[in-house]
Amino acid sequence: MSGYSIRPITLKDVDEVWNIEKMCFPVPWSRQSFVLEIEHNKCARYFVAEHAGTIVGYGGMWLVLDEAHITNIAVHPLARRKGIGEALLRVLMAEANRLGIQKITLEVRDSNTAARNLYEKLGFVSVGRRKRYYSDNNEDAIIMWNLNIGKVLEAKQGD
Ligand SMILES: CC(C)(COP(=O)(O)OP(=O)(O)OC[C@H]1O[C@@H](n2cnc3c(N)ncnc32)[C@H](O)[C@@H]1OP(=O)(O)O)[C@@H](O)C(=O)NCCC(=O)NCCS
Repeated sequence: MSGYSIRPITLKDVDEVWNIEKMCFPVPWSRQSFVLEIEHNKCARYFVAEHAGTIVGYGGMWLVLDEAHITNIAVHPLARRKGIGEALLRVLMAEANRLGIQKITLEVRDSNTAARNLYEKLGFVSVGRRKRYYSDNNEDAIIMWNLNIGKVLEAKQGD
């Protein structure tokens, strides 16, 4: 999708972000969780992708000491497979890198092939498993890490 831009989230975006959250996850965060992240969590960084005045995706992370932890990343079902998820993840990684952080991690459902492919494309490697991590279906979480954010950002897309 061309013509979208990525920018830091604001409180005005919360309703649209929460709508996407509810469409994308079986156990969505509450609306209030997003408000708290934006207003009170100094470790949190969230970005939205906007197309023609509409939010089409978002992603966030916590920055703790020398590590970044992706909390969520989601793209509206009608806007998928157009590079927006990858662009959001690259922005999160660039923000961490800008702040001197090289290590980034996340958990992903074992069965979530789309997300796992996205993370692998940007240099994340599976390093472990949290058994029965997701309460809705007792699915395992795969723990993924990328220990060299800068290297991924330096590589040209498609390398
Ligand atoms: C995962 C998600 C964010 C990807 O967003 P997207 O904008 O559709 O992804 P992109 O178009 O940027 O694709 C980037 C890469 O991801 C992988 N990918 C994305 N969708 C895929 C799919 N349906 N099947 C296989 N691989 C897929 C591919 O490697 C792709 O690279 P390619 O285009 O060179 O093949 C999106 O599917 C989503 O919102 N899913 C629901 C929420 C979710 O599961 N979030 C992750 C929680 S850990």
